Amino acid sequence: MHKKIAGTLIFDAKEALAAPLVLAEAARILADGGLVAFPTETVYGLGANALDAQAVQKIYLAKGRPSDNPLIVHLAEFAQLQELACEIPPEAEKLARHFWPGPLTLVLKKRLVVPDIVTGGLDSVAVRIPAHPVALALLRAFGRPLAAPSANLAGRPSPTSAQHVIDDLAGKIDAVLDGGICAVGVESTILDIRGGCPLLLRPGGVTPEQISILLEKECLPCTWQEDTAMPPPSPGLKYTHYAPQVPLCLVLASPEKILAEIARLQDVCRRQGKHVGFLLSRELAAEFDAETVEILGSRTNAAELATNLYGALRRLDKSAAEVIIAEGYSEAGLGLAVMNRLKKAAGSRVLVLE
Ligand code: TXA
Ligand code: MG
Repeated sequence: MHKKIAGTLIFDAKEALAAPLVLAEAARILADGGLVAFPTETVYGLGANALDAQAVQKIYLAKGRPSDNPLIVHLAEFAQLQELACEIPPEAEKLARHFWPGPLTLVLKKRLVVPDIVTGGLDSVAVRIPAHPVALALLRAFGRPLAAPSANLAGRPSPTSAQHVIDDLAGKIDAVLDGGICAVGVESTILDIRGGCPLLLRPGGVTPEQISILLEKECLPCTWQEDTAMPPPSPGLKYTHYAPQVPLCLVLASPEKILAEIARLQDVCRRQGKHVGFLLSRELAAEFDAETVEILGSRTNAAELATNLYGALRRLDKSAAEVIIAEGYSEAGLGLAVMNRLKKAAGSRVLVLE
């Protein structure tokens, strides 16, 4: 049995592999040019037939996404890569064979079969094989590649549960497959691998350290600055992503200094009559007294921080908080992706204390 919210079908896919009827129905909706949100190991994706320009157009409309911000194409099998991309360097194949299925997206030269609307008019295409069993089962049931951005309204934190998708998109899409909470919690790493040298366009679930070790080559971070006349190497860089509706201030310092600073900020806000929400590690939350606190996990466990990040931002948005004060973490390993999202959520409100 399934529910319907504002016309959007909600399928329970926690037992998806045991529910071929649900997968067949979702595949039928996709074949008819519809939109189906599905869980991946990173965040929920909003899928449409990648080879059907009209279906893909609906993704941009539902999300309110600028049409020059291209989509990631999801595959079930490595063999499908040749159909969409050409000039696949040996480094790309090595990365794909090692990290797929998994949270790594490769940017490669596109073939003509990929509609321009998928790639925002670029001559490259971003592709990955997701690791979530429901995503893979859907891709197999559908039998064709799926274009899928994160299944949130443009500018909102990515969804890590079916409820997040429903909160943003109920009534705007045909169906959601509810596969529970996403384990990784931040989006895939995007790597431009044309020419064989890895250029990191977005940090994510696979770390630059892991990429460098596998390729025995440095994984260069993308150095594009917003104020240059050059177009960004990844269009997504020019849009504010991951923003909660409540302004977020990020404090970067040692744990002791962060504690002192957040107490001071709490005081200032109290005097202004402002309700503050805090986004803290378990360690700092244990030392700090406040009414509204979201705990992300241990400071020393970036994977835990990543899993809980977007859910916590969404809960703070729904809370009484008028301002969010967030603790900064180490950028080692997965911490790089967590800090990238926190900095984007903060915009210019980053406080660095030496
Ligand atoms: O984990 C993920 O990557 C999730 C799941 C659903 O797979 N998807 C995701 O998609 O985060 P989205 O659309 O929210 O972010 C995709 C990013 C955008 O910033 C876009 O600019 C960039 O990928 N992108 C897509 N195609 C590109 C290309 N050909 N060259 C450079 N950047 C590209
Ligand atoms: Mg997104």
